[in-house]
Amino acid sequence: MSAVVATERRGDVCIIWLKRPEKLNALSSAVERALDEAISSADVTHSGAVVIAGEGRAFSAGADVSEFADRDPEAIARYYRETGGIYERVAGLTQPTLAAVHGYCLGGGLELALATDLRIADETAVLGFPEVALGILPSSGGTVRATRLVGPAKAKELILLGGRIDAAQALVAGLVTEVVAAGGALERAVELAQALAELPRLAVSVAKQAIDAVPESSREAALVIERLAYGLLAQTDAAREKGGG
Ligand code: COA
Repeated sequence: MSAVVATERRGDVCIIWLKRPEKLNALSSAVERALDEAISSADVTHSGAVVIAGEGRAFSAGADVSEFADRDPEAIARYYRETGGIYERVAGLTQPTLAAVHGYCLGGGLELALATDLRIADETAVLGFPEVALGILPSSGGTVRATRLVGPAKAKELILLGGRIDAAQALVAGLVTEVVAAGGALERAVELAQALAELPRLAVSVAKQAIDAVPESSREAALVIERLAYGLLAQTDAAREKGGG
């Protein structure tokens, strides 16, 4: 695996480190490719929960702006077929995922954080979508996930105006799930990840997938998924042992 991303196991938890601190973990194609390799590695696939964190003074300052030049339509289509698919692949991980956010979390960095299940920010976090001011828009799932998380009006405020918000504002908006003291995001994220990893794995995974299916489904279909998922889980040894089956 490339040196710009590394995995670290802590018990059943796997931390995926963005390791390009000199560029504030800007998400170049090389970083995206390395992230892809990381999420297919045994460290991740055998883990019970995954935390994504950034080395240095930021989570990530977003897409690598130095790679923006010379993007003709063909190259852009190829990008989404190749490394640009990483955000959806992170979102598709079946185990719970968390982002430990500190410092800048902008653009594609925020989109990566939004592709995880829970976002723990420390008080140094600065979040925002700078894309529209650059003449583009968040295009790694950002418009979809931000709108679902915070609603269309707040998503428009964040994406159209492009202002930066702090951790407390992000918590009020629903963009992050918890705020901790400066320097505490990773520790708290790992603590929650460990708690998640200790729960019955199939129940956590199936519940996550059922929740993810809700916005994609009719009410009736979502209820069928929920009931079928219950039918599956209730028959597991974990449910029988813990009284749920
Ligand atoms: N892409 C590529 N390189 C980036 C980057 C990005 N998105 N964000 C930061 N960097 C690089 C800087 O070019 C600089 O590299 P250098 O030391 O070789 O010149 C290094 O990271 C440190 O950044 P710097 O700008 O010196 O830090 P700062 O604390 O003064 O400012 C930011 C931090 C995040 C406000 C500023 O770097 C910035 O605006 N970055 C672009 C953010 C952005 O538009 N992201 C979304 C793209 S869609």
